[in-house]
Amino acid sequence: MYGGLLADAGIRKATCEIGVNRGLSAIVVAALRAPGSPMTGIDTFGGPRDATSSGGMSGDEAAFRANVARFYADTSFLRVIAADSRAVAPSRVDGCSFFHIDGGHSADETRSDLALAAEATVEGGLVALDDYFNPSFPGVSEGTVHFLDERRGTLVPLAIGHNKVIFQCAPLAGDLNARFAERYPRVPRTRAVFDGADVLVFGSAVAPHVDVERSTPARLATRDVTLRADIRPRVRLLLASPGARIDLPLRLGNRSDIAFDWSDAPFGVSYQLYRPDGSVERYENARQYFMAPLEPGGDREMTLEVTAPLRPGDYLVHVDVVWEGICWLRERGSHAAVVPLQVR
Ligand SMILES: C[S@@+](CC[C@H](N)C(=O)[O-])C[C@H]1O[C@@H](n2cnc3c(N)ncnc32)[C@H](O)[C@@H]1O
Repeated sequence: MYGGLLADAGIRKATCEIGVNRGLSAIVVAALRAPGSPMTGIDTFGGPRDATSSGGMSGDEAAFRANVARFYADTSFLRVIAADSRAVAPSRVDGCSFFHIDGGHSADETRSDLALAAEATVEGGLVALDDYFNPSFPGVSEGTVHFLDERRGTLVPLAIGHNKVIFQCAPLAGDLNARFAERYPRVPRTRAVFDGADVLVFGSAVAPHVDVERSTPARLATRDVTLRADIRPRVRLLLASPGARIDLPLRLGNRSDIAFDWSDAPFGVSYQLYRPDGSVERYENARQYFMAPLEPGGDREMTLEVTAPLRPGDYLVHVDVVWEGICWLRERGSHAAVVPLQVR
């Protein structure tokens, strides 16, 4: 996503990856380089590493080269450095617009790899760091925090997603996140602050919005997702005493083109309480999540628990499906079901 925006800003050059292993992510990193520019792969390939290393896997140079060759007929762009990344001089990988770090996972290696990436990446270029949020490798976040403290302002956090953090090399070439919002208004993301910078956070909700077949390394093709719920309450009226919890049985149909399911952005059924004059009595209420997915076209009998207001009176219960962190479905053209509630 960001590679294309950067290319549009005229920043597309060489690329580099530390920790190529057998080439899975390297194949993508190679695709992000400018035509005619090199991609450098750094890996110990099973060579000696010291006791602070904690990468888990070890690579195999022959397998790496063979896997890259399966995707690129001409691999003359490939430069392989079979060494501990801490011993690699920045001059050997200079001028990168994209640098992926997935090598040793100790604090020392991470700190050193970030320093190498910061030296080797051009102004405005991107540095992606893997496993920052992986609890099995606390050294990655530890080393990153050390680096950010020592080299304040060198790498600025830009985005978080799928266990990775993407940094941009200062000085920044324009506001990439503002450009992202302009170009991809529908791609779901939330916001966070990391090391004092505003970052965009991408979760699994991104996947349905990406048209993989039509996307290229230079441009992300998005697709609109239809979101519709057919909500049919099984009662016409709810009666409750003040503060009571009552059941609202309903039949819910998924008329969207994606499943209602559980993820880091789960789908759930919930409701808002309105007063007869249209003002809000209580907007946020308990959710009932789809722990078992409801596939497109599927229907399910459900029971929503509604908590009545403490003040007696007449209310309206608006039942809708929520995609957490993204939207209520009625904001995307679906309809909430409305059931009157009398509190006496
Ligand atoms: C998690 S694997 C990388 C996975 C790979 N990016 C992929 O897409 O499959 C980590 C790799 O980093 C390498 N590695 C570990 N410590 C390293 C170090 N200090 N310098 C260079 N490479 C290292 C390992 O040999 C291993 O191949």
